[in-house]
This record gives sequence, C-alpha cells and structure tokens, in this order.
Amino acid sequence: MVTIKSEREIELMREAGRILAKVHEELGKILKPGMSTKEIDRICEDMIRSHGCIPSFLNYEGYPASVCVSINDEVVHGIPNKHRYLQEGDIVSLDTGVIWKGYQSDAARTHMIGEVSPEARKLVEVTQQSFFEGIKYAKAGNHLNDISKAIQAYAESFGYGVVRDLVGHGIGTNMHEDPEIPNFSQHRKGIRLAAGMTLAIEPMITAGRYDVAWMDDGWTVVTEDGSLASHYENTILITDGEPEILSL
Ligand code: MF3
Ligand code: CO
Repeated sequence: MVTIKSEREIELMREAGRILAKVHEELGKILKPGMSTKEIDRICEDMIRSHGCIPSFLNYEGYPASVCVSINDEVVHGIPNKHRYLQEGDIVSLDTGVIWKGYQSDAARTHMIGEVSPEARKLVEVTQQSFFEGIKYAKAGNHLNDISKAIQAYAESFGYGVVRDLVGHGIGTNMHEDPEIPNFSQHRKGIRLAAGMTLAIEPMITAGRYDVAWMDDGWTVVTEDGSLASHYENTILITDGEPEILSL
C-alpha cells in the first residue's frame, strides 16, 4: 500500500532528511586514504546519534553496521571492516539512513578518494545525474515508470549498466515501503504519483554489464564482471510541482 503522508508527517520527514544530508556532508569531509571502512562506520554512527537520531541500518534484517561502504566493483551493502582500507583512486559509496521521531530518511553518495581515473569520475557523475534526470518526472499526475525510464535512458546513453536486482522504494515510518522503484523501464506505467508520497530513488549504475552477485558475507553486492559501480540516492517528497529533495 502506498501511503500519502500528512503535513505533520512531512515535517518530520523533512527533519529526518535534513539531518541525513548533514551526516553525508560531514562524512564526505573525513574520508582519507588509509582509513578503514569500520572507522567510517564508527564516525557515521556517532554523527547520527549526536543529532538525536537512530541509525536505521543497524540491525536491519541483521545488517551489522550503520552505513554501507561499497568500494569500486562493490555496488551496495558493503559491510564495514577494520581490515579494509580506503586507497587513493577508489570510488566509495556510502549509504546510510536515520530515524527521527519515528520517521526515516535514506540516502547514498559515491565519493572519489584523491585522484581517480577519468572513467571512474565519469561513472560517478553520470550516476548522480541519472537521479536528477529521473526526478524531472517525479510530480503528481505522472507515473512511476516515467522516473524509471528516464534514469535508464540517461545511464544507458553512456553505455553503462543499470542494475536490475535492486530497486528504490517508498519510505516513511519504515525504511522500505511501497512502491518498489526500479531504475529501469517496466512494461507498465506503474502507480500514479500523488502529492504527499515520500520515495527513496537510488540509481545503481555500473561501468560494464548490469549483472550483480552476492558475496559470501550474505550482504555485499558486486558486479559480476568486476566493473566499477556507483550509487546515488535521496529521499524525496512528491508535490504538485517540483519534487522536494529531503536529504540534500
Ligand atoms: N539504502 C538501502 C536501501 O535502500 C538500505 C540498506 S539495507 C541495510 O535498501 F540493511 F543495510 F540497511
Ligand atoms: Co534506499
């Protein structure tokens, strides 16, 4: 069931989004070569709690950390590890979420560590832009597939792969609510968008084929062909006009 949030709920979603935007901004500044991904998790959890929020990922279906840290060919859900270090030239996606007074926000950014290859930079930029191409269609009266189609068309115009096995989602008092939001076109229009829907839109794009595999830890998703992957996500609010990006 897709819910329409009340004005009171929207205000709480805005606050949850604003705090998450700040957490991402602060996390972007502390990344350095040599830092362990576990250290990123510790800092992220501290930041979230210092804002009075609960880390929504921690213990979610058994996930053991507050942030997913996915490096290079890791697409999403990389588990922080004290023996895994950031290196110059890596692209690293950080995906995290907060709960504020019962309401959730969810967002991801892909960062470049020092100098990265032109190919990596292009992938990161196109992934981010594909989100903005998609949300051009995120307004009341349009259909869900308008967003999906636009994300896919943009990413594929660069020859990139659009991951099929993972999708965006509605969000509210739960991290994952209806509807599912694919980043690729469906053979139907999907639901009609209405003001008051809150959605997490999250293109996951690869520099090669779109096929992914799960590692033995049960979480980390990697590209099957070993190509680089990038992830960009925000929680948005559908209105009668332009969407409000709550987590930016
Ligand atoms: N941001 C992810 C999503 O949208 C959530 C990560 S799953 C978790 O599905 F287990 F790590 F929380
Ligand atoms: Co999400």
